[in-house]
Amino acid sequence: MGKQTITSIQKAKGVRKLSMVTAYDALFAKLFDEQVDFILVGDSLNMSFGGNADTLSIGIDEMIYHTKAVCNGAKNSFIICDMPFGTYIDEETAFKNAMRVYQETSADAIKIEGGVEKAHIIKYLTSNSIAVIGHIGLLPQNVRADGGYKVQGKTQEDIQRLILDAKAVEEAGAFAMVLEGVASEAGKAITEAVNIPVIGIGAGVDTDGQVLVWSDMFGFFEEFKPKFVRKYLDGASLIKQNIKQYVEDVENKTFPAQEETY
Ligand code: KIV
Repeated sequence: MGKQTITSIQKAKGVRKLSMVTAYDALFAKLFDEQVDFILVGDSLNMSFGGNADTLSIGIDEMIYHTKAVCNGAKNSFIICDMPFGTYIDEETAFKNAMRVYQETSADAIKIEGGVEKAHIIKYLTSNSIAVIGHIGLLPQNVRADGGYKVQGKTQEDIQRLILDAKAVEEAGAFAMVLEGVASEAGKAITEAVNIPVIGIGAGVDTDGQVLVWSDMFGFFEEFKPKFVRKYLDGASLIKQNIKQYVEDVENKTFPAQEETY
């Protein structure tokens, strides 16, 4: 596929669908390298890999560690580092943390959650040479304030609010945006309302592309399965069967075999 650029990503709008997947380490990033248009080092790693109930407790140091690992594994991919909760509360804090991502990793862009209310921060970052992908709709970093994960864009009024968010993110200079957890009618309307690519997750089929969390799509995350996830592999069952087999092999001394012994 070759490494994408902001220009090639933007040119894809209306021409072909874009695919994004998350990765958190070099091992899996290498498997995804050149298979997808971009790789997101999502703060979702705090849940699937950190075992926490939400994304809020991960910090910038951990995100930088994982982003470095992903950059080491996927040398031919456009890589986005998710900015964790509290790291972009004002323009200076956002720039200081984004600059750390740029200086300490080779990530191509950062992602921040929020629409109209975060537009001034996106504007500050983009006018200081940071490439930003927005994230609107259901905002996982708002989960405690919202009292749960709530699908949005179910009424015309809410669709109009989300369109204002999308336009604010576009006008602030973001090169694309993630749109999460909205009714498919809203997904279509928002995608049509802006000129930059809209990458959906639980936003229907009409967005400019899709993103999935790899541990969800390959069936490793068992805590819950959101409706929008398609399971391409039953990873958890495969691992459980095979770890059982390993224990049996150790017990009955069929592992290691002659050819596995010095
Ligand atoms: O953290 C993450 O993985 C994300 C995706 C759900 C888009 O933000």
